[in-house]
Amino acid sequence: MAVHSATAYRVRLAGAADIPAITAMYRFDGFPHAQGDPERAAFYYACVRSVSGRVLIAVEDEVVVGHLELLLSQEASPLGRYGYLEALEVRVDRRRRGVGRALVAAAKALTRAAGGARLETVPEDAAAMAFYTAMGFRPGTPSVDLDLAVPPTALHGAAPLRRPLPPGAHPWLRLRHVAGRQYAAPYCWARAFLAGCWGLPEATGTGAWQLRDSDAVVLADPWLVHLFLPPDLPPESDEAWPAWQAMLALRAGGTREGYVRTVVATSLADRLRLLEHWPGSTAEPFTLLTCSV
Ligand SMILES: CC(C)(COP(=O)(O)OP(=O)(O)OC[C@H]1O[C@@H](n2cnc3c(N)ncnc32)[C@H](O)[C@@H]1OP(=O)(O)O)[C@@H](O)C(=O)NCCC(=O)NCCS
Repeated sequence: MAVHSATAYRVRLAGAADIPAITAMYRFDGFPHAQGDPERAAFYYACVRSVSGRVLIAVEDEVVVGHLELLLSQEASPLGRYGYLEALEVRVDRRRRGVGRALVAAAKALTRAAGGARLETVPEDAAAMAFYTAMGFRPGTPSVDLDLAVPPTALHGAAPLRRPLPPGAHPWLRLRHVAGRQYAAPYCWARAFLAGCWGLPEATGTGAWQLRDSDAVVLADPWLVHLFLPPDLPPESDEAWPAWQAMLALRAGGTREGYVRTVVATSLADRLRLLEHWPGSTAEPFTLLTCSV
């Protein structure tokens, strides 16, 4: 695929050979970590590709001036088939020239071609919000990023875990992604399993487990814990609470400074009164944006 523009750049799919040039752009922009770190950039690239995602770049004479990661996901109803913009960066000296617009247009076309009906993303700040609004994105589900100070006493009654699930399981096709849903589910799954292959320190304690007494699944990726519930099990019901406890137990009391990080729709966090239960917990609101393609 090649989308030519009136200016000097063109947008194309990236291959693994482009990772050093992508890394160079992030370092130029002052991000020596994550995508600016060669090993971590390879990890992020592998995560996107392992779930059939696409990496797009804008290049000027093979110098990367824009980078976008598109996840393509198929999940249980009502999410269905959709695209998710996981990363988007335009080199700082090439902004406001239409590069971001061209990358998003290409991502929309790829999502449509894959049978998706919409694109989702989370804006980083007010400028990103203005950009995505100009690209046709509108606010979707208001959510909160939670750091929960969960005491061990809160975990009595946690549902026991069954054996770990293998990397190739696809529980999100039949289970609802109730907590930790900041990114597309297959991507969270890939991060949980591939972090170990890359030997990242954050890989400690990652993995996925089915609960012994139900179909529910809990997942620990390097940064968040996740809960997947059967569609007929209301997340705020008493029956679901042992599954929430099992998810929280994946991190509570561990080495992560006593906090358990997850993401929940604001309305559900309010119904569960998560913040009121445990003093010292914090919540940062964010909004998933969505745009039909
Ligand atoms: C957000 C970002 C990707 C936009 O890329 P870009 O190539 O500069 O965007 P474009 O030139 O295609 O802008 C398209 C339109 O979006 C809007 N827009 C873009 N940047 C904007 C800003 N900083 N403030 C307000 N509106 C903005 C404008 O309407 C713009 O059209 P105009 O230039 O004709 O007014 C770029 O600023 C960036 O890399 N930021 C840092 C990383 C980031 O926030 N990524 C977003 C993912 S969270």
